[in-house]
Amino acid sequence: MDTKLIIGSAADVDSECLVVVAVDHGEKQKNDAKLTNRDTALERAATELLSSGEVTSKPFEAVLVHHPQGLKAKKLLVINGGKAKNFGPTEVRKAAGTALRFLKPKMIKSCAFVPSEISTGFEDAVRCIVEGAYVADFDPDTYRSERKDLRMQEISLVIPANADKTAAQRILEQARIIGESQNFTRELVNEPGNRMTPTVLGNRAKEMCEKVGLKCEVMGPDRIKELKMGAFWSVAQGSDEEPRLIVVRYEPAGAPEKPVIGLVGKGITFDTGGISIKPADGMEKMKYDMAGGAAMLGAMRAFALLKPKVKVIAIVCATENMPSGHAQKPGDIQIAMSGKSIEVINTDAEGRLVLADGLHYARTLGCTHLIDAATLTGACVIALGMVNAGVFANNEDFYQRFCKALQRSGEKFWRLPLDQEYFEQIRSSIADMMNTGGRYGGAINAAMFLKEFVEDTPWLHLDIAGVAWMEENKSWIAKGPSGIAVRSLVEFVGSFSS
Ligand code: BES
Ligand code: MN
Ligand code: ZN
Repeated sequence: MDTKLIIGSAADVDSECLVVVAVDHGEKQKNDAKLTNRDTALERAATELLSSGEVTSKPFEAVLVHHPQGLKAKKLLVINGGKAKNFGPTEVRKAAGTALRFLKPKMIKSCAFVPSEISTGFEDAVRCIVEGAYVADFDPDTYRSERKDLRMQEISLVIPANADKTAAQRILEQARIIGESQNFTRELVNEPGNRMTPTVLGNRAKEMCEKVGLKCEVMGPDRIKELKMGAFWSVAQGSDEEPRLIVVRYEPAGAPEKPVIGLVGKGITFDTGGISIKPADGMEKMKYDMAGGAAMLGAMRAFALLKPKVKVIAIVCATENMPSGHAQKPGDIQIAMSGKSIEVINTDAEGRLVLADGLHYARTLGCTHLIDAATLTGACVIALGMVNAGVFANNEDFYQRFCKALQRSGEKFWRLPLDQEYFEQIRSSIADMMNTGGRYGGAINAAMFLKEFVEDTPWLHLDIAGVAWMEENKSWIAKGPSGIAVRSLVEFVGSFSS
């Protein structure tokens, strides 16, 4: 999809379809729909439609007007952006996404957005339209034989002659990179286990790194054993597919020595549970157990293109979790790379095992700050449902900075605690810790386990189990892989750019 600016007034834009957003200023049931862009020609063209109440009946629905009066464009698409008082950046994203997903099946291949006027400003409106449009352009039906190529070819943004063109162009470029990187992650997550083995993930990482100019090292079983990654290896040993330790470096010229941000991703390309095998019902979903790792790769792609001045190293621990004659068993003791001993109670708590070594390895590579992302626990899904992801932090400043990044990314995370008392849950009588801690506070138990391997390094743990895969189609995004965390990581790391 191409993205460009059109400078001038909406009425003169010769497009297949102009897109505008209307919001409801009315109280209770009374309809008072107004456009979010007070362009007189547009308002005139939409008057009748707006007063009919048709647009504002349901949020994030669209109405298409053919041959709009007084406009050069062939069609006018009016999106319902919901209540006026709630209308902000998130709604701009959703509205832009709704437009794309409405137009794509109608074989309309280009459209022109007239940006909404929002309180956070013009630049935010441009950024959110482009991000929202790219997210909506993705469809997960990769392997359908009758798949139609429904992608949009081009979107334009109509900006007034007095707007800052250079700034708008820069923001548009940045938003495109972020949207495309999120979709890169979604493509990886969408692949099934037989087509996204650890080897394939390593190759895809290498391929991407070559394209955008990143250093990438992909290591196999010998190196993993040589590094004494006993926790990572304990999961990998049960599978006939070789594991991969993927290390991607972004070290731009001119970046200060510190910080070095370490992004550690869970890359379980399929999680059967191992010997503690999962029930058959829903097990097919466990192909998305590498979504944390894929998010880190997507974020790295974005850094290579956006070029923030800060060092970042991504580490993805990729393996299957399989039952077999050489799989680890409940009760086995493993020695992690850090030297700590782990009593494996449940082989299905494998994510924390691979991350334990990934986090420790990141520290040995010189990372001063750590973030991990993982589809780590079903308990996090029970706690927060499929709306918020979980975030854990051992450092207040680091967490506050993350919250600022969330305001820009529009992604939802909710903080959960890490009090030392919780460690009692995973205390072992034979080793330094157990890999599970019973039914209560399961997401926290997993986080407490990881905490043992980051020690004093400022660290954020993102448990994305509930939000990495969307169960339902939304009018602004297809069901399937969400690409969660990519945008937040990009905004967060960018905030360190000197
Ligand atoms: N990959 C799963 C967690 C998960 C669950 C991801 C649902 C996405 C959706 C993880 O490896 C796992 O199996 N966790 C166990 C831990 C338990 C054995 C302590 C769980 O949550 O049931
Ligand atoms: Mn598991
Ligand atoms: Zn898992």
